[in-house]
Amino acid sequence: MGKDGDLMEKLVSLCKRRGYIFQSSEIYGGTGSVWDYGPLGVELKRNIKESWWRSMVHERDDIEGIDAAILMHPRVWEASGHVEGFTDPLVECKNCHRRFRADEPTVAETGQCPVCGTSDAFGEPRMFNLMFKTFMGAVESQAAVVYLRPETAQGIFVNFQNVLTSSRQRIPFGIAQIGKAFRNEITPGNFTFRTREFEQMEMQYFIHPDEDDEWFEYWKAKRLEWVESLGIRPEKLRFNEHSPDELAHYAKTAFDIEYEFPFGWSEFEGIHNRTDYDLRRHQEFSGKRLEYIDPVDRSKRYIPYVIETSAGADRTTLAVLVDAYREEEVEGETRVVLGLAPHLAPIKAAVFPLVRKDGMPEIARKIHEGFRKEAIPSIYDESGSIGRRYRRQDEAGTPFAITVDGQTTEDDTVTIRNRDTLEQERVAIDQVIGYIRERVG
Ligand code: GAP
Repeated sequence: MGKDGDLMEKLVSLCKRRGYIFQSSEIYGGTGSVWDYGPLGVELKRNIKESWWRSMVHERDDIEGIDAAILMHPRVWEASGHVEGFTDPLVECKNCHRRFRADEPTVAETGQCPVCGTSDAFGEPRMFNLMFKTFMGAVESQAAVVYLRPETAQGIFVNFQNVLTSSRQRIPFGIAQIGKAFRNEITPGNFTFRTREFEQMEMQYFIHPDEDDEWFEYWKAKRLEWVESLGIRPEKLRFNEHSPDELAHYAKTAFDIEYEFPFGWSEFEGIHNRTDYDLRRHQEFSGKRLEYIDPVDRSKRYIPYVIETSAGADRTTLAVLVDAYREEEVEGETRVVLGLAPHLAPIKAAVFPLVRKDGMPEIARKIHEGFRKEAIPSIYDESGSIGRRYRRQDEAGTPFAITVDGQTTEDDTVTIRNRDTLEQERVAIDQVIGYIRERVG
């Protein structure tokens, strides 16, 4: 396997070893392409989601947050076009009965079945709807069918009037939401990149129809700025515009933000001009008016256009992890480092006594407790050699390691080691919390 393939393998193994990401239901042999976040993974993903929420909702006056339910009225998905159009072409191999997306390169270009190797064994392509179906209530009848939402966006559209009236916003304004979405992908894969259950961070910005191009450009720039604030290397990022045949059924223009993953350039966020498609369709299907009435001139009524920014929380987390992973030669040894931006790192500081005696553990525990009182995530570790403890934290992505040593007992100072530069500074114990706080954002 090539170097890049190795990188994915190494990352998957580090994620398991350090408690970032586990295979779902692993003790039963795992569930196809569903993943669980472990103790460090849940913190990393939360930090990413919190950073998104802060920049989209808390730091602005013009965007309101909501948290809509996953189960929605089934008519929502007829209005949105998902019942009819949210499909992928599927072919089945007559030989091994495996199913593939007909538009995948292995199938479309070579006619080869990637598993059993038989060619010319595919049936006719048929359209496969990606929505998961379930039943509401105790009766499993067609009338009780509901869907697990395939995008969080519809929860925003159906609440457009509710938010507008309750928040007293005026156009232009936005509604943001973070939540789970589900798609019965035909070919999931590449670790957490394409899964059947995932989380989205979506924002719909409602605007006057004449202003769509300006707002589209505005959101493109804003979103890239946020992605770069995660510490992802700019040269690994690019925009990719959808060609007319790639556009989703609701979109007039769409740009993806792509990251150069080890398996190639791939999308982890999209900016879409959805026009008035969704609100117009919901107005038609629900019979409720979804127009905006200009409060200054009430004769001006229109269905707003929508610029959508739609990011995957899991894909963004994966891009951050891939980008942070590095191996370095230090003093003849390979050091694995997860160089996460300090504001995203699950643990901000590790506190070590150099040895387990001479009062060092007591002082180290007190420093750790000080962090806890300030709600700065830290850990205390006294097991193994100091070198091993440093390496464990390098792999976990912890930006600072604080060591209590012999000198501490004489002058109340500790060393603070920087994960990236490996430099150590001596800092007075009463300055430690301030030192870390200043650097972890
Ligand atoms: N509301 C628009 C929408 O859902 P999308 O391009 O289909 O647009 C947006 O999805 C984002 O959701 C993607 O950029 C990706 O990050 C994430 N996403 C979509 N399908 C996914 C899957 N099967 N697994 C993980 N993330 C997914």
